Amino acid sequence: MRDMVRGGNTIPEPDVTDMFDAIAPVYDRLNTVMTLGADARWRRRAAQATELSPGDSVIDVACGTGKLALALAGIVGPFGRVEAVDLSTAMVARAAAEHRALVQLRFRVANALELPFPDATFDAATIAFGLRNLSDFEAGVREMARVVRPGGRVVCLELSLPPSRLWARAYHGTFRRIAPAAARLVGGRASAYEYLPASLDGFPTVDDLAATMRSAGLADVRFWRLSTGVVAVHQGVVPADDGAGGSAGSSGGGPSR
Ligand SMILES: C[S@@+](CC[C@H](N)C(=O)[O-])C[C@H]1O[C@@H](n2cnc3c(N)ncnc32)[C@H](O)[C@@H]1O
Repeated sequence: MRDMVRGGNTIPEPDVTDMFDAIAPVYDRLNTVMTLGADARWRRRAAQATELSPGDSVIDVACGTGKLALALAGIVGPFGRVEAVDLSTAMVARAAAEHRALVQLRFRVANALELPFPDATFDAATIAFGLRNLSDFEAGVREMARVVRPGGRVVCLELSLPPSRLWARAYHGTFRRIAPAAARLVGGRASAYEYLPASLDGFPTVDDLAATMRSAGLADVRFWRLSTGVVAVHQGVVPADDGAGGSAGSSGGGPSR
């Protein structure tokens, strides 16, 4: 069922951005329908994996309508800082309009592969359901690691294939049919939602993604499978300059939740 593992999304970046611009108005409703509301819990788990405290700073990459950024803003509080970036202007406009009351939260248009921040700016970086859209997964992780201080966390929440082959096959087939139908139901462009399941084809397994994070320079990489493995949270630590803070080769898996 799995194609060759890809190192990046093969759809051209402008096409990906156009698609997300088009579905921005229905994106949140669609997520709730397709995940039966579980997406909020998954983002809370990703936010927890940053191990942030009040007053800390974090960047949320490919932030979409800002749902994970909002959870992060709750953790760092009004004296903290959340910078949330996305390449889709429509997504950023929606996010900024929806969350303008929070002083610690700012949205801007930027490319995940070229973040407009100096090295070691943040205590953590997150990406939720964004990595598989990037043309180079490892470069995306490397860029997140670049803007995080040594000892800080890089966290990735992403769709995954369940470890049970039977369930993985059933899930993938169902997702492929349900995504465009759900898009029609909430008034979105069905063709745009054919892209979503297709973007899972050849996406790294949890172990491959952990290896990609290690290749991108992260240490102590581990992951947790959520909801029978249909999504996973990966966490890695930016090593200290002197190499302390964990070996970039260390690994670990986590239990299902
Ligand atoms: C499936 S949405 C996820 C949005 C949000 N993080 C969430 O949890 O719902 C993927 C997002 O990635 C953004 N994206 C795709 N390629 C990007 C890139 N190169 N740089 C920044 N954002 C990108 C899209 O515009 C879209 O908003």
